[in-house]
Amino acid sequence: MACLLIKELFSLPADSREVTVCGWVRTKREMKNLVFVEMNDGSCFAGIQCTFDRSREGLDGETETALSSLSTGASAEIRGRLVPSPASGQAVEVAAETLTVIGEAPAETYPLQKKRHSLEFLREIAHLRARTNTFGAVGRVRSRLAFAVHEFFQSRGFQYVHTPIITTNDAEGAGAMFQVTSLDLNALPRTEGGPVDYAGDFFGKRAFLTVSGQLEAETYATALSRVYTFGPTFRAENSNTTRHLAEFWMIEPEMAFAHLPDNMALAEDFLKFLFTVILKDCAEDLAFFDTRVEKGIIETLRSVAESSFAHITYTGAIKELEKNASAFEFKPFWGCDLQSEHEKFLTEKVAGGPVIVTDYPREIKAFYMKQNDDGRTVRAMDVLVPRLGEIIGGSEREDNLENLENRMAGLGMDKGLYSWYLDLRRYGTVPHAGFGLGFERLIQYVTGMANIRDVIPYPRAVGQAEF
Ligand code: 4AD
Ligand code: MG
Repeated sequence: MACLLIKELFSLPADSREVTVCGWVRTKREMKNLVFVEMNDGSCFAGIQCTFDRSREGLDGETETALSSLSTGASAEIRGRLVPSPASGQAVEVAAETLTVIGEAPAETYPLQKKRHSLEFLREIAHLRARTNTFGAVGRVRSRLAFAVHEFFQSRGFQYVHTPIITTNDAEGAGAMFQVTSLDLNALPRTEGGPVDYAGDFFGKRAFLTVSGQLEAETYATALSRVYTFGPTFRAENSNTTRHLAEFWMIEPEMAFAHLPDNMALAEDFLKFLFTVILKDCAEDLAFFDTRVEKGIIETLRSVAESSFAHITYTGAIKELEKNASAFEFKPFWGCDLQSEHEKFLTEKVAGGPVIVTDYPREIKAFYMKQNDDGRTVRAMDVLVPRLGEIIGGSEREDNLENLENRMAGLGMDKGLYSWYLDLRRYGTVPHAGFGLGFERLIQYVTGMANIRDVIPYPRAVGQAEF
């Protein structure tokens, strides 16, 4: 008899059918003739209770021996019959007959005991933390959301593009890139003037890990009309915060024949779709986050999914912030980058929910954004949400060759490196727009998890690359 997932067992009628449960022991409790073993296999939040009744039929010797040494964390196979459960909160349980321990987990050294562990401690044992309630739930939510991303775009005519991970350009122009090289760092070849000679490097020039797949996505959007990428991106910013990772996953849709309002509408529809899916398909996990991590998260997601996002221009936002200048450590002024305290104020106090801020000053945004006629702002949009601040960043793209060339020249960018990107404006240019959603920030938002390092299996951040 093959073992079914516990999730599948829960969907079966309690008709005394024979079942096999395979998983890891969460708890074992003994009461007179009864031994209760809770088994979990991560297929769903709940474990299944397996009850061994010594008075009913007597257990075989092997099972008795296995039961006496059974401890939390051991892997085991339990056979029995699926019966209605007298315990509250579960419809079925297993009237267990035999137990086989597959792998023991000595109680003296197994790090995950029954007590609650701190998230900091669990980060140190990230290879085992998926076996806890919290990280099991995060893992399932993450998986379901990743699939939902594809469902959303595929059902709207967007094609999935695999943009490169190794690149020779800096899409965001922020200069926070990890370099990729096969040169021997202890014996670097040098040109006459002294700088490193990359001609002998693997790619014949300096290469990096990408910070964004956007520029390449644009090349496909101006051929396939609607595309999206969904892949890992890398940033070597020295930001030791609860919202930054050095390696994170980003979803970047790009649409041809589209302007900023189309982009804003897409971002809003996309987030609402994701919230709706997760409310429906991860209800049990969300109930856990709602009671144990972020009170009221279910209600928040539900109401956000049903209401319209607020819109405000950057200039309007600065006015709101200046009215309350005394509330901020960093005094807001036109031209400043919005700080997290500003974003928090805008979402929590001004909008009372998600807000899309548009038309930022050109000087604080990337080179590719479409310039407004006022000569000082660009058609940028950031979607801000309570607790986290920026969750999406995007824009309409500069589709005018001359404007783009001037902007790049102003920033001192190497035009030669981007000639292929400029070709999109040379040959059949179209208005187009897109954005990037940080996948981990999305997961933080829907789960309420405070630290971004706890929503990705193995976080990479300043000073952290274990496992
Ligand atoms: O605002 P960003 O830098 O925009 C871009 O990269 C554009 N190329 C996107 C586009 O228009 N196609 O990043 C987009 C999002 C942010 O809003 C944030 O959610 C997330 O990516 N993000 C990070 N997430 C985790 N750790 C970091 N270090 C992040 N940096 C950005
Ligand atoms: Mg941004």
